[in-house]
Amino acid sequence: MTKKNGFASGIGFILAAAGSAVGLGNLWGFPYKTAQNGGAAFVLIYIACVLLIGFITMISELYIGRRAQANAVSAYKVVNKNIGWFGLVAVAIPAFIICYYSILGGWTLKFTVNSFNGNAGILSTFSVNTFEVIAVTGVFLLISAGIIMGGVEKGIEKMSKILMPMLFVIIVCIAIYSLTLGEGVKEGLSFFLKPDFSTVTTKTILVAMGQAFYSLSLGMGIMISYGSYTGKEIDITKSCAMICIFDTIVALLAGLAIFPAVAHFNPELLNSSQGVALMFIILPEVFESLGFIGKIVSFAFFLMVTIAAVTSVVSLLEVVTQFILQKYQVNRKKAAAGIMIICFAVSIPIGISLGHVAILEEDGPALFGLDALTFFDLVTNTVLMPVCALFACITVGWIIKPERAVEEIEASGSTMPEWLKKVYSVMIRFVTPALILIVEISGVRGEIIAKDYAVIIVAYGMIIICAIIYFLFFKNSYTGMNADEHKN
Ligand code: PHE
Repeated sequence: MTKKNGFASGIGFILAAAGSAVGLGNLWGFPYKTAQNGGAAFVLIYIACVLLIGFITMISELYIGRRAQANAVSAYKVVNKNIGWFGLVAVAIPAFIICYYSILGGWTLKFTVNSFNGNAGILSTFSVNTFEVIAVTGVFLLISAGIIMGGVEKGIEKMSKILMPMLFVIIVCIAIYSLTLGEGVKEGLSFFLKPDFSTVTTKTILVAMGQAFYSLSLGMGIMISYGSYTGKEIDITKSCAMICIFDTIVALLAGLAIFPAVAHFNPELLNSSQGVALMFIILPEVFESLGFIGKIVSFAFFLMVTIAAVTSVVSLLEVVTQFILQKYQVNRKKAAAGIMIICFAVSIPIGISLGHVAILEEDGPALFGLDALTFFDLVTNTVLMPVCALFACITVGWIIKPERAVEEIEASGSTMPEWLKKVYSVMIRFVTPALILIVEISGVRGEIIAKDYAVIIVAYGMIIICAIIYFLFFKNSYTGMNADEHKN
């Protein structure tokens, strides 16, 4: 397994994968979900989910990519020609996510740049300023695609080595600042972490499982793609452990940074600290009440969020770029530019819909009664990602078989102590797929209860379309591998 094209160092790979994992889900989703779902009780359940589903699925996805040294479609195809379409689903999901995640990325960019003018109260005017929203989304996508164009080592790895430590330093500093504010800190911490096992229901566990998936960037081909860029010198088991730990620490730090500060400066806002409001309405108000120092904290905070969003979108873009450039033998720059332009075009109506329908709650472009971002978010996160993660577990647990997988993982330079081999073998066959199936079924059930049938139809329709396209066009044709990149 010689590595010609990929990550140069273990730490570079870990930072890149952690860069994908650490995103809006950690800085924004995790804090308010924890506060809403029983504080420390939720944190414990979340950690269990990271271990039981996250860690096991991540090893499996990285392994599928590493053994193939190829894009997700080829990676499944080398296991068995008839399951290559699993890979196509794994490429299609990121393509969709880029289109809406970039809009939020654009928002964070706007809030960073605007920090010194004050962000309080701007959301309702900014988010419906069509031109501005489109412009910042475009800039955000340009930055992300620019990094991809640099390649895996000189683009993704280099950027992660600079940006991820920066992000970590910023969040640690803000957390320290927030925790040393004195008055209110206790209330903030108790709002965030006060254990309340009485609120723990099946729904809490489902929220934690879903959050673990999303936060670790599983079920969308990313870890397959990044895994394919690793060789023997990178230990996947150890790396997975570090990525999971890093991702969880950043999520916890985000809560420690946010709630004590809200409780100190504006305690009456604590209870409305949810969803979009938390990051784009409540925090700007808190920063505003701080005077000049608030502008600096605001800049640092939104810069950190932008970094997290860029490193996540970069990983999504890489999955699609890798497939297109290898399958169609075009060069990386052209592939990345093409994808960027298409995603940008699709993001325009979604951005307009988000501002008008979701924020102002007025008429605007909507999809089946939902704002377009929520619609796509439900399609990908609720329905498609668990399916895609299930594909990875079934492939390793039932098609490749755990005995062989464990042997190959070890032979490719990764350490797996005896106990882990045993645990992994049982988990990957039975426990993890069963848990993922529960997440999927309850997600679909939720959509049925909410009468969002279109979400289910579009999501499963997409899987069927991917399968049809695969069998018609890709099954018997060459779909490329990493080594091809040097030829074009
Ligand atoms: N893991 C990222 C987060 O926590 C989310 C993400 C989603 C990243 C999709 C890449 C792709 O926000």
